[in-house]
Amino acid sequence: MKTLLCSVLLATCLRAALAHYTFPNFIANGTVTTDWEYVRITANHYSNGPVSRLPHPSPAATHRSARTQLTDVTDPEFRCYELDLVNTAGATGTATVLAGSTVGFMADNTMGHPGYFDAYMTAAAPAADSEAAGTGSTWFKVWEWAPRWTAATGLIFDSENINQVNFTIPKNLPSGQYLIRLEQIALHVAETYQGAQFYIGCAQVNVVGGGSGTPGPTVAIPGVYTGYEPGILINIYDLPSNYTGYQAPGPAVWSG
Ligand SMILES: *[C@@H]1O[C@H](CO)[C@@H](O)[C@H](O)[C@H]1NC(C)=O
Ligand SMILES: *[C@@H]1O[C@H](CO)[C@@H](O)[C@H](O)[C@H]1NC(C)=O
Ligand SMILES: *[C@@H]1O[C@H](CO)[C@@H](O)[C@H](O)[C@H]1NC(C)=O
Repeated sequence: MKTLLCSVLLATCLRAALAHYTFPNFIANGTVTTDWEYVRITANHYSNGPVSRLPHPSPAATHRSARTQLTDVTDPEFRCYELDLVNTAGATGTATVLAGSTVGFMADNTMGHPGYFDAYMTAAAPAADSEAAGTGSTWFKVWEWAPRWTAATGLIFDSENINQVNFTIPKNLPSGQYLIRLEQIALHVAETYQGAQFYIGCAQVNVVGGGSGTPGPTVAIPGVYTGYEPGILINIYDLPSNYTGYQAPGPAVWSG
């Protein structure tokens, strides 16, 4: 039905596409850096659509309904969704950031979808601007922002309709080259398998002034999710009567 509406009422669907977003701007030292300066340019930089199997969504593809943009969380593109899996890393800069400092990502649009945010990091070998960085089981979660829940209110998404998120680089993280992967799991059409929409971006950083912590638990991306987790496959508008709160997918946060 939605697909049919999309071909008939193109304007409605373009509006839906405009509600999507990318994260072109990395924020460090309180400064919003230039578009795609330190964040690997993503394949959806025209369409702004969620991670999907379409390798390079074109402007013409933006009229596809959100429901046709299924996300396969086991696809290699799920790691960083680069425009070019081979060449984008080398074409992106690496930002120097202090351990213990606040960093962030700014979206190119208001993030109107209710969801769960988190950020993963991985040590990056041989370097942050290498396509091989982050391909092992080396990712750990450094931050999350989950919806709140009470029986009276249901789920409450405090992170809805903002355009920037901030978090701290763990103070005890060893110095060195890393990737930081921001992720929003948008849950507005998540009631069917592969319906949750993933908005992601990977920044390349060189952490200085770090400590001697051992980050973990570590996971592979893709690999960390199956898509069947209760925090990914969920009808946020019709929760089961025995619901007790949002269960975040993936590992616990390592805060150093
Ligand atoms: C942030 O500040 C540190 C320390 O002054 C500096 O070395 C680094 O280059 C700055 N990073 C960015 C992205 O401006
Ligand atoms: C992120 O930090 C900026 C600058 O301090 C602030 O204006 C903004 O409200 C923060 N965003 C969130 C979601 O905390
Ligand atoms: C809630 O109920 C469903 C359906 O009866 C059941 O499958 C599920 O395990 C229950 N969940 C919890 C957290 O008790």
